[in-house]
Amino acid sequence: MLPDTLVFGRIKIKLDAIGSTNDYIHDLLTKGEDLTEGTVVFAENQSAGRGQRGNKWDSEPGQNLTFSVVLFPKFLSPSDQFSLSKAISLGIVSYLSEVLSVNMSAIRVKWPNDIYVKDKKIGGILIENAVSGTKLIHSIIGIGINVNQEEFNPGLPNPSSMKLVAGCGFELNEVLSELCTHLDRRYFELRNCSHQNMHTEYLDKLYEYQVWRDFKVKGVAIRGRILDVMRSGKLVIEVKDGEDIQCDYKEVVFC
Ligand code: BTN
Repeated sequence: MLPDTLVFGRIKIKLDAIGSTNDYIHDLLTKGEDLTEGTVVFAENQSAGRGQRGNKWDSEPGQNLTFSVVLFPKFLSPSDQFSLSKAISLGIVSYLSEVLSVNMSAIRVKWPNDIYVKDKKIGGILIENAVSGTKLIHSIIGIGINVNQEEFNPGLPNPSSMKLVAGCGFELNEVLSELCTHLDRRYFELRNCSHQNMHTEYLDKLYEYQVWRDFKVKGVAIRGRILDVMRSGKLVIEVKDGEDIQCDYKEVVFC
């Protein structure tokens, strides 16, 4: 059966084992391979899965989705690259909201692009963009979703999975196809210049948006609340009894 998407997953490459699906796509592009936009590479087992901040992404073989997609978003300027991150996060949130029978407001994006159900992380995104001058040449979108895994490395702070949330298992190929449909929809929204609508929706889905809480910014403990996210992707925090600050990803810790 043909996929019902225009870009995402029209071509799928399945690998039994690989270091990292992001690296696999990167290597193909470096070798000059003519990849079709939206090609998905998914792996049963990643031996060197990578997460954000240089972390490892651990995933039990055969239980979860670990895949990457190549995009050529020529319609975006490098200064708008964070909008891709918003579109992908929202695609995952809308897919999970459709299949998990939990209150929709429980499924959120923890800035910049961790996927949370209540206070637990169910998925993560690693986007690697190649920029040349004023052009976004390609984007490798790596996505890890915990699907059927029930036990996690005790070192992970707050992991969860679709199975733990829903109380039943999921068929991985089905999850991948349905997720691609949602991602495709969001990508076209972005292409059609719905930046403002997407930004509003992103804020609406943001974990702990406008909630007073403790953060650590550049090692300093503050009380603040999220006000906005800049076009650059920087987080804007209103500091209690202080001035608003803008923070980069590596500078902020949610306490
Ligand atoms: C994070 O939350 O830290 C991001 C995790 C991203 C993991 C995915 S799994 C598929 C792709 N390949 C990788 O090496 N990483 C991403």
